[in-house]
Amino acid sequence: MKIEVTGTGPLEVDASVLAIPVFEGDPADPKGLFAEIDRRLDGHLTTAAADEEFLGKAGQTLALRTLGKLRADRLILLGLGKRDGAEGALARAGFEPLRLAAGDAARLAQKGGARRLAFAVPRLPGQTAQEARAVVEGALLGAYRFDRYKTEEKKKKPRLLEALVVAVPQGLERSREVKESVALGRSVAWSVAWARDRVNEPPLHLTPTRLADAARELAKEAGLHVEVLGPREIAGLRMGMFLGVTRGSAEEPRLVKISYAPKGAAGRKPPVVMVGKAITFDSGGLSLKPTEGMVDMKTDMAGAAAAIAAMRVVAELAPPFPVHALVGACENMPGGRAYKPSDILIARNGKTVEITNTDAEGRLVLGDVLAWGVETLQPALLVDLATLTGACLVALGMTTVGAFGPDGPAMDAVLAAARSAGEDTWRLPLVDSVKEELKSDVADLKNAGTRMGGSISAAWFLKEFAGDAPWVHLDIAGPSSTTKERGYIAKGGTGVGVRTLVELVRARAVEEARPPRR
Ligand code: BES
Ligand code: MN
Ligand code: ZN
Repeated sequence: MKIEVTGTGPLEVDASVLAIPVFEGDPADPKGLFAEIDRRLDGHLTTAAADEEFLGKAGQTLALRTLGKLRADRLILLGLGKRDGAEGALARAGFEPLRLAAGDAARLAQKGGARRLAFAVPRLPGQTAQEARAVVEGALLGAYRFDRYKTEEKKKKPRLLEALVVAVPQGLERSREVKESVALGRSVAWSVAWARDRVNEPPLHLTPTRLADAARELAKEAGLHVEVLGPREIAGLRMGMFLGVTRGSAEEPRLVKISYAPKGAAGRKPPVVMVGKAITFDSGGLSLKPTEGMVDMKTDMAGAAAAIAAMRVVAELAPPFPVHALVGACENMPGGRAYKPSDILIARNGKTVEITNTDAEGRLVLGDVLAWGVETLQPALLVDLATLTGACLVALGMTTVGAFGPDGPAMDAVLAAARSAGEDTWRLPLVDSVKEELKSDVADLKNAGTRMGGSISAAWFLKEFAGDAPWVHLDIAGPSSTTKERGYIAKGGTGVGVRTLVELVRARAVEEARPPRR
C-alpha cells in the first residue's frame, strides 16, 4: 500500500473514503471538524449519528455516503472515547485507540472496495509523529488478510486498498520526525504481518525446517547475519531437553540465530537477546492433548515469529549495540521414539529434568536455548516470548501478555516498551511457594507442577536456565491469536510481541544516545 502524508485539510484531500476519529463530546462542538462536516452535509451527519447512537465512544463506528457534498464518496467516523486529557491518555496507551480506529477504517474501506483512504490525524500538540505512526500501523494491519489457501472463487472480492493518505496539521507533512515515524510504522506493520503469516500457515507447510528457511530469508534481505543448526549440531551443543522434545517427530529440529551488530567498538557491547518459542505444532506428545485443545496448536511458534520479525525492524533502527534472536524450532509429537513421562533429560547447563508431562515442552526447548544464550552471549537484556501456558489465559484473558521476572531495570524496560507499543502487558509474580511445584524425587527438577499457578511454575522453570541474567519472560499464550476481529486485529495470528520488542530496542538506543547525566 502506498502511504502519503499531506497537510491538506481532511475535507479537501483526494480520497474515496475519509476517516475521521471522533472524541466523545466532539459532535457538540460547533467549531470542530464534526460540525464543519455536518454543515457540508446539510445536517445529515447529526441525523445519522443520532439514528445509530454514535457518540464517539471508543470502538464505535459510523459509515455514510457523502452524496457528492464532500470530495470523498464515503465518510467513516471512529469513536476514540473521552477527550478529557486525551493528550496524555493516548500517549500513555501507546496510541492504541488510534491504531484500533485506523484498523477499523482500513477494513471498512477495503470491504467497500475503496482504493484511497484518508485518515485525519487528531490535533494533539507535539504528538503528530507518534499519532501518524499508530495510524499507519493500524491501517496497514487492518487491511491484512490471510487468504493464500482460498481458491480464487472463494477469495473475498474487493480489491486491495491502494493508498493511505495521512492528513496531518498543515506544515507538519514536511517534518522529518513525522516522515521517520511514518516509515517506522510501515516497517513495524510489515514485520507484524510477517509474524501473522507464519502463525497462520498450517503446520504441514510451516515445519521447523521451513520456519528456519523463512528466518534465513528475512535475515538475508535485512542484511543480518544468520546461522541455522540441525539435529547433529544441536546434539553437539548437548541440548538434551530440546532433543527430548523433538524425538517424537518425523521433522528435523532447527536452531536459528539471527544477529545484528553495529560496526566498531559498539559491536562488542553486551547484546539484547530475544528468544522465541517455536513449537511448529504442539500435539502434547504422549501426554496427548484432546482435539479441542490441539486445533490451535499450529500457533505455538508465535513467540519465535515475533522475535524473528522484530529483527528486520532492528536492522533498520541500527541501534548502537548488538541484538540477537534465538529460536529452537521443533514439533511436539507422540511418535514411536517420543520422550516419555518419567524420562530424565540432561539440559545444556547440566541440570537434570524429570518429565512428568510431555505437554510442558516449550519450557524444555526454551530452557536449553536460554542457557546457551546466557553462556555464549552474556546479554545485557534477555527477553523470551512464548505461548507457554493455558494458565496464563485463565489468569489474564485472551488479550493480555503476562510478564515474569525479577525486579530490576530489565523488567522496567520491557513493561515500559510494551506500554509505549500499545501491547497490553501485565506483570505476574514469581511466587516463592510455587517453585516447590517443580521439586523432583529423582532429578534436579521436574518439568511440570500442578495446575495451580501454572504460569508461575513455568516461569520458575525458565529461571533455572536464565540464571542471573537480566531476564524477562513474556507469556503470550492468550494474545498470540484470536477468533475475534477487532480494530487492526484480524482473526488468526496477531503478531503480538513484535511492537514491544521494537520499542525495547528503540528506547534503549535512545537511552544510549543521550549524553551521560551528571
Ligand atoms: N502450548 C501450550 C500452551 C498453550 C495453551 C498455548 C493454550 C496457547 C493456548 C503449552 O505447551 C502447554 O501445553 N502447556 C501446558 C502445561 C502443562 C502441561 C503444565 C498447559 O498450559 O496446559
Ligand atoms: Mn504443550
Ligand atoms: Zn506448547
